[in-house]
Amino acid sequence: SGIDDLGDVRGQRVLVRSDLNVPLDGDTITDEGRIKASVPTIKALTDKGARVVVVAHLGRPKGEPDPKYSLRPVAERLGELLGQDVAFATDTVGESAQETVAALEDGQVAVLENVRFNGGETSKDDEVRSAFAGQLAQLADAFVSDGFGVVHRKQASVYDVALRLPHAMGGLVAAEIDVLRRLTVDPARPYVVVLGGSKVSDKLGVIDNLLGKADKLLIGGGMVFTFLKAQGHEVGKSLLEEDQLDTCRSYLERAEESGVEILLPTDVVVDTEFPSGDREPHPRVVPADQIPADSLGLDIGPESGKAFAAALSDAQTVFWNGPMGVFETPAFAEGTRAVAQALTEVPGLSVVGGGDSAAAVRQLGFDESAFGHISTGGGASLEFLEGKELPGIAVLER
Ligand code: 3PG
Repeated sequence: SGIDDLGDVRGQRVLVRSDLNVPLDGDTITDEGRIKASVPTIKALTDKGARVVVVAHLGRPKGEPDPKYSLRPVAERLGELLGQDVAFATDTVGESAQETVAALEDGQVAVLENVRFNGGETSKDDEVRSAFAGQLAQLADAFVSDGFGVVHRKQASVYDVALRLPHAMGGLVAAEIDVLRRLTVDPARPYVVVLGGSKVSDKLGVIDNLLGKADKLLIGGGMVFTFLKAQGHEVGKSLLEEDQLDTCRSYLERAEESGVEILLPTDVVVDTEFPSGDREPHPRVVPADQIPADSLGLDIGPESGKAFAAALSDAQTVFWNGPMGVFETPAFAEGTRAVAQALTEVPGLSVVGGGDSAAAVRQLGFDESAFGHISTGGGASLEFLEGKELPGIAVLER
């Protein structure tokens, strides 16, 4: 059910769980995609005269206040994007929250301080979590779940609070699920999946599940070196997950058996050190099977970029998660750029799956509307594609 099913919300306090977990450099927001994406649901509620109380997390603080992870700069930016003042509570369920919420008038918005400053939010103990959800629930008359990026977390502000208040699915969550369903239920073919990012271990579930469904799997990013090593190549100082070598080998075999084409880079861009602030990068393109012992791979090479783009050229469905290299450094951004460019040109549905790849697309200056969909969920979109039940969705459907 959507927010219209909550009935007349004028004068009601509506707790909205948004995902405002954006990358920050000090107080500067380096990618505001998630803040922007959270605006329409909040706006729809204020337009109806609701008193909106936004609850969200930032980073992974340890269950107690930590100024580094304050949502204050995010709340300010949200206010600018909404075009109205946003009140900020310096705690989540304490005196400040209670006073801030009590002072709200119809159509006004408050943001609560980082919900993960409270141990109850992420506790594994159901009772502890539920008790904290009870405190959250006291601040509101209804709950709207709109933080797609966190629906895979069984946490108090995502899951338990929905058990305590009349609730509805926000428009962002509904839209995300709609698109992701098109990747899992009878996807148009060819269906090509591009995976990157640093760790294979984060992608095991999704590879497992997609080996039976996708037509092609293109692999780049830091995780590719474990695959290259699994094929018997030396990878120098590149990222390597020794404990995943057997798994990678088995994926390569299974792909072969099931007729899924796995494409690995044939050339890579290396340097002798990981890019860091003051050091000038020395990028060098080498064949993927000849990475020097003193070097590490930081991007897929130009030949691979072309091959990946060619493999995407006739795709009817594409899912891309994880950058192809260290795109934050221009010398290692071209592989990611080539894939992003190719996605803008595919004839079918192209989906950029959250987190770093979404940030990369924006940082590299692509027009977001050139993609079919840019998800706000990193882990959440992966778990959806793994076919796992997402607690934050399941609880709304109960
Ligand atoms: C994300 O960044 O993927 C979401 O905000 C969830 O954050 P988490 O992985 O710290 O739970």
